[in-house]
Amino acid sequence: MEYFTTTSKPSKRAVDCVIVGIFDRGKLGVAASDIDSASKGEIRRLIKSGDISSELGHCAVLTRLAGVKAARVVVVGLGKTSALGARQFRKAVAAAATAIGKTRAKQVLNGLTLETAAKTSHYYLARHSAEAFGEMLYRFNQMKSGRQPAGSPLKKIGFAIAKKTDAAQTIRGAKHGDAISTGVSLAKDLGNLPANVCTPSYLARTAKKLASGNAKLTSKVLNEAEMKRLGMGSLLSVTAGTVEAGKLIVMQYKGGGEKPVVLVGKGVTFDTGGISLKPGLGMDEMKFDMCGAAGVIGVMATVAQLKLPINLVVVVPTVENMPSGTATKPGDIVKSMSGQTIEVLNTDAEGRLILCDALTYSRRFKPAAIIDVATLTGACVIALGAHRSAVMSNNDALRTELVAAGERAEDLAWPMPLGEEYAEQLKSNFADMANIGGRPGGAVTAACFLEKFADGLTWAHMDIAGTAWHSGAKKGATGRPVPLLAEMLLSRCRALP
Ligand code: BES
Ligand code: MN
Ligand code: ZN
Repeated sequence: MEYFTTTSKPSKRAVDCVIVGIFDRGKLGVAASDIDSASKGEIRRLIKSGDISSELGHCAVLTRLAGVKAARVVVVGLGKTSALGARQFRKAVAAAATAIGKTRAKQVLNGLTLETAAKTSHYYLARHSAEAFGEMLYRFNQMKSGRQPAGSPLKKIGFAIAKKTDAAQTIRGAKHGDAISTGVSLAKDLGNLPANVCTPSYLARTAKKLASGNAKLTSKVLNEAEMKRLGMGSLLSVTAGTVEAGKLIVMQYKGGGEKPVVLVGKGVTFDTGGISLKPGLGMDEMKFDMCGAAGVIGVMATVAQLKLPINLVVVVPTVENMPSGTATKPGDIVKSMSGQTIEVLNTDAEGRLILCDALTYSRRFKPAAIIDVATLTGACVIALGAHRSAVMSNNDALRTELVAAGERAEDLAWPMPLGEEYAEQLKSNFADMANIGGRPGGAVTAACFLEKFADGLTWAHMDIAGTAWHSGAKKGATGRPVPLLAEMLLSRCRALP
């Protein structure tokens, strides 16, 4: 995508489309007001006749307005009259982008960036715009046969700015948004692919492909024999029932001098539950059980595109969880790489079994911070729904940092506790711990399990079971939490304005 800024009036640019906004009670936004004067009151007339609405996200596409150079004007409702906040802005741009996606517009000029940026900044307005257009342009057609309907031909996104000095931050925001969009799209592709295509080996190949031709990025893949030598009995117990070989993918990006941030992503390419088999209804959605892996690989793609001056390691334990004659059975006791033993009371609590060994392995990178990302518990979906990811941490500052990054990135998260009282639920009569802690506080006890492997590390856990994909009619991966994690890394390397 190409991006540009302009200080000329939106009515004077001969683009395929301009976006303008109107607030409640007949208040026109800056660009709408310009279009209104140029067209001799057309916008006000349409508001009066009730043909365009100021309700947030409502859109009308006007074509060939007299006095306006652009071929189309998309008028989008901005809602209440007040300084436009980032959330409101993003929702409005997303709606306008959807409307524009149904036209043949090749270039668009966003006039909404002229509204007061009091609650946000030129950087974030441009970034949210680029992300919203990326969202609109995303298609997943690779598994469909035959010719697919042509997508939007959009090639160029412009931003109206009031003064030339706003240009640098605007373009910076757009470039960052573009890179985040790259990461989100990759994460969505990996999530949406079916489990018969997106296997552990497929994820490994994807990592290798991302690293090839990038001098700062290397990737290596450990096979089951190598993991066995490292003592990863917990991870390997999950892969015991399947013919697909489990892998440990390790990607290292070296762009700076400091200790790395390590991101660990749960890569269960299909979760049947194993011998503790899941019910059949909706089981297809367990192809999304590698969305933690997809998210951290996506973040790596974002970081590589921006060539950020940081060190980042991505570790992906990836397996398929299947029942069979060789599968792990409830009650089996396995030994993790840390030496701690685990009684596998439920083979469906497999995410933690692969993550714990990946956490132990990751100690070798001496991480400044280590964050695991996982579609870990149904309990998290009950607690927070599809709106916010859960964040648990043994470090208050890291937890706060992640939640705050989510607010700025419009990729929301919420803190959840850890604690001895919850950890007690994991007691086992036969091993150092059990892999389940009962139904009460299921998202928290899962995190407490992982905490036992993060001793001495600055560690956080993100449960994205509710946020990583949409169910129902809009079924599909969301690419979350790529924006949150990218924001965290951008602010760590002071790449934000
Ligand atoms: N992958 C699931 C978690 C999940 C369930 C994510 C539904 C999204 C929607 C995970 O491996 C799992 O099965 N967790 C169990 C844990 C339980 C056995 C302690 C769960 O949440 O039911
Ligand atoms: Mn499971
Ligand atoms: Zn799972």
